Amino acid sequence: MKFFVDTASLDQIREAQDLGILDGVTTNPSLMAKEGITGEDNIMAHYKAICEIVDGDISAEVISTDYESMIKEGEKLAAIHENIVVKVPMIKDGIKAISWFTKNGIRTNCTLVFSAGQAILAAKAGATYLSPFIGRVDDINWDGMDLIAQIANIYAIQGFSTEILAASIRNPLHIVKAAEAGADVCTCPLSAILGLLKHPLTDIGLAQFLADHKKANG
Ligand code: G3P
Repeated sequence: MKFFVDTASLDQIREAQDLGILDGVTTNPSLMAKEGITGEDNIMAHYKAICEIVDGDISAEVISTDYESMIKEGEKLAAIHENIVVKVPMIKDGIKAISWFTKNGIRTNCTLVFSAGQAILAAKAGATYLSPFIGRVDDINWDGMDLIAQIANIYAIQGFSTEILAASIRNPLHIVKAAEAGADVCTCPLSAILGLLKHPLTDIGLAQFLADHKKANG
């Protein structure tokens, strides 16, 4: 399973990159706004800066919601760097745009996915990645992991090559469960990735090893 970090914060991206386990980055308009990145030029420059930190797929989302504008915007985003993946919302024009991007050699990430039916459409259109939003499904008292497992099963039966990118991950257990359910990629906040490190028995065991070493060696 690939690990992406889900943030537009360059500090957090650098910290995740320093771990040596990072495969890519996802952003969205809310995450860009959170970092105070506004205006087309600044947004483009920010994506370029991310591409310079991480040698992996970087999702950059279109703001347009009509087909023609999505194509123009996606072409501009894709021209920033060869690692840019154009993120497109799961709407009718979005599916048309993904289909066009696929035929024209531009890779895509279909976002805001909440059902298996949407996942089938995106795969048919040739999306490179599909982003089901686990945490937001859980928020409304459904099971986000059931959705990942259902899509993984359908894609395996049908031989679709679209990669399942589990998104809206909120905690380390989401990462473990998404891996179990068959996600190809997890995009996570840095806190969830670092949360995977934690186990009290690791801390207790390490303290004991160091204490025993000190006793024996002075
Ligand atoms: O990858 C999508 C993600 O950024 C959404 O997460 O926590 O806002 O549902 P969240």
